[in-house]
Amino acid sequence: MTITSDISLKPYNTFGIEASAKYFTSVQSINNIQELLQTNEYKNNARLILGGGSNLLLTKNVNAIVVKNDLKGIEIINETEECVFVKCAAGEVWHEFVRWCIDKNYGGLENLSLIPGCTGASPMQNIGAYGVEIKDTFYELEAIHTITGEQKTFSKSECEFGYRESVFKHQLKNQFIITSVTFQLSKKPIFHIEYGAIKQELDVMNISELNIKAISQAVINIRSSKLPNPKEIGNAGSFFKNPEVTANTFQKLKEKFPNLVAYPLDNSGYKLAAGWLIEQCGLKGFRKGDAGVHKLQALVLVNYGNATGNEIYDLSTHVLQTVKDKFGVNLEREVNII
Ligand code: FAD
Ligand code: EPU
Repeated sequence: MTITSDISLKPYNTFGIEASAKYFTSVQSINNIQELLQTNEYKNNARLILGGGSNLLLTKNVNAIVVKNDLKGIEIINETEECVFVKCAAGEVWHEFVRWCIDKNYGGLENLSLIPGCTGASPMQNIGAYGVEIKDTFYELEAIHTITGEQKTFSKSECEFGYRESVFKHQLKNQFIITSVTFQLSKKPIFHIEYGAIKQELDVMNISELNIKAISQAVINIRSSKLPNPKEIGNAGSFFKNPEVTANTFQKLKEKFPNLVAYPLDNSGYKLAAGWLIEQCGLKGFRKGDAGVHKLQALVLVNYGNATGNEIYDLSTHVLQTVKDKFGVNLEREVNII
């Protein structure tokens, strides 16, 4: 394990923002992490744990030690006739792990195909897409306390998962380095194709017998048609969460805006499509300098080349304010602002 100083983080964040790290290191094992915890560079500085950098906006140089989690390995730790428990190290690239599961016909993660980033970050915001969230197959995770080095296993309930939420974004923020995540996957997959676009895409693909590989491919096709590829244009996926409102607020908005796009929630409230709200404000494709609202998906902010983190942040404030003025709805940023 080596620690370097004053390095550029541009290659390490999918927004492609230029910012430097005071110190930077990559950890490849639990021993590496324990060793790191004893160094002065670690003990005397704040820390930022990094996976694929696909859910971050760097608004300043990082006056901290950046720890890139590169722990690798996928192993089956238990299995029954029905299911298999697969433990994936935090530094494994998420989509490669999903592909590994699909190749073995272990069902549960196929709807989450092509989400960028590493497995270790997946519990941070309980990643979700196309009707599925990781909490649906999550079994447990292992983590190391950032100060004491204590190793702890977290059960599903201890993670306090919600929509793009977990305990690690709140009470336990910056307190643990996640080292592995274990999923309980099904050997007899149950297919989740209720999300409209998936059914349509499967029809287009002309699939005769449904299987998880086909669902994964349908998801990949849909995502590729509207989400910008960070290798071509900087972004961190949805910049905002879809806001949740009460039934009462929903009714009032629906009367005023009959085309409002919303989904009913279990608690009788509604989740509004933030992309629709932003588009209705005329902001889809809006650009200021190199910071923009994506032309095909208004929920995604993009860096056309040399935008600074603050320019993207200021654009997000403009979007928040414009949506608030038109609809009276508060959007919340999903991306982690550093
Ligand atoms: P990073 O950006 O590196 O880190 C994110 C946060 O987690 C930071 O606060 C970081 O400090 C912390 N962290 C990272 N690893 C660890 C660890 N091992 N231990 C402790 N803390 C850690 N998200 C979805 O939910 N659904 C989507 O459909 C989706 N689509 C996307 C599409 C695009 C094009 C892009 C660019 C992003 C998308 N995202 C989506 C967001 C992003 O891919 C996920 O949030 C992903 O899980 C982030 O992983 P990462 O490794 O890049 O995390
Ligand atoms: N819409 C518009 N205009 C837009 C974008 C969306 O009108 O520019 C409306 C459309 O009616 C569309 C609806 O919003 O049918 C929903 O859009 P989409 O299916 O693209 O999903 P989303 O709600 O915008 C969410 C997640 C994505 C996830 C997709 C698929 C959040 C914040 N975002 O986006 O996650 O991939 O659903 O499940 O929940 C991410 O978190 O980074 C992310 C990309």
